[in-house]
Amino acid sequence: MKILVTGGTGYIGSHTCVELLESGYEVVIVDNLCNSKREVVDFIKEITHKEVIFYEGDVCDKELMRKIFKEHKIDAVIHFAGLKAVGESVKVPLNYYRNNIGSTITLCEVMNEFNCKKIVFSSSATVYGSPKELPIKEGFPLSATNPYGRTKLYNEGILTDLYVSDNNWSVALLRYFNPIGAHPSGLIGENPNDIPNNLMPYIVKVATKELKILSIFGNDYQTKDGTGVRDYIHVVDLAKAHVKAIEEVLNNTGVDAYNLGTGQGYSVLELVETFQKVNKVEVPYQIVERRPGDIDACYADPTYAKEKLNWEATKGIEEMCRDSYNFAINYNSKHQN
Ligand code: NAD
Ligand code: UFG
Repeated sequence: MKILVTGGTGYIGSHTCVELLESGYEVVIVDNLCNSKREVVDFIKEITHKEVIFYEGDVCDKELMRKIFKEHKIDAVIHFAGLKAVGESVKVPLNYYRNNIGSTITLCEVMNEFNCKKIVFSSSATVYGSPKELPIKEGFPLSATNPYGRTKLYNEGILTDLYVSDNNWSVALLRYFNPIGAHPSGLIGENPNDIPNNLMPYIVKVATKELKILSIFGNDYQTKDGTGVRDYIHVVDLAKAHVKAIEEVLNNTGVDAYNLGTGQGYSVLELVETFQKVNKVEVPYQIVERRPGDIDACYADPTYAKEKLNWEATKGIEEMCRDSYNFAINYNSKHQN
């Protein structure tokens, strides 16, 4: 079975390619490298000892997408490609709508032309807005608080409408909570070029002394220690869920949404302390103002993914911290020489 992975050289995409290849799938990647590097293709090959087909280009480019479908009999698609920085999406919303929604429309049009109607889509827990209750279940009300979140919500709607219009479609909407960690090989992981927006990449850059100090955004939230609580999930666990979702879409039709989290919430301080302990490294921090738009706590009820996909997260917070740091050390040592 051949799977087209859009955004396959990105953080979650690259880990998913590894899991797909290790489960016996063939993988074709399309990525315009706007937020990743070509070397990732070689790292995927190095980890798996398998071949990967790579197209550098934009999912919004219909002729390129047609070429890929002409050259390969694609059985299903995992659609990761997208822009993902919440703050940036507020500043340049049209870029987000054009890229994140435009790519989905172009992709689905071409899939329709080639009668490939099976898709796994990267959604986000952001579609729950500010949840009224915890843990979050898939049936909770959906809303968006920024343009990035709206692109996820619209894409979920577009894919649902597509199924309603043609019941041969099979759609899995995967709502990720907070992916962190890296492949244990240390070859692939998350490595933002700019100053990171997200907590774990920031912690890592402070630990490696690329940045001076971590700012913790608020310690007066309604949580165990006052700092924000999130459901961190190891990216390898997340990647494995995509293999289960692919099996599901290959064997069934319909639309379904799944929460992909561990079900456990950890505070910012707990994450920082665990990171320092397992990696034996200092992460200096200061408490600063709350970041606008942040919520107190967010964690999943992942029961449905367990029941329907036979998937659950197995890796704990210590492994997440260790693998994130290990990747950074490995990456930095390679790129300094
Ligand atoms: P990432 O930026 O590492 O990966 C996305 C990849 O898509 C990049 O390699 C980028 O170059 C590529 N890309 C972007 N637009 C493209 C286009 N038009 N055509 C071709 N390639 C394009 O991000 P990630 O963390 O791996 O996230 C993958 C998906 O999961 C995204 O859709 C993101 O919104 C979603 N998601 C991520 C998180 C998270 O915290 N990382 C949480 C929830 C959802
Ligand atoms: N935080 C800090 N300092 C930092 C960065 C973050 O204290 O430098 C705190 C935040 O206030 C929050 C927690 O760390 O309490 C996690 O923040 P992240 O930015 O890592 O993650 P978010 O939960 O805010 O957002 C992430 C993704 C979004 C996605 C959302 C819901 O970035 O794209 O999860 O899944 F929508």
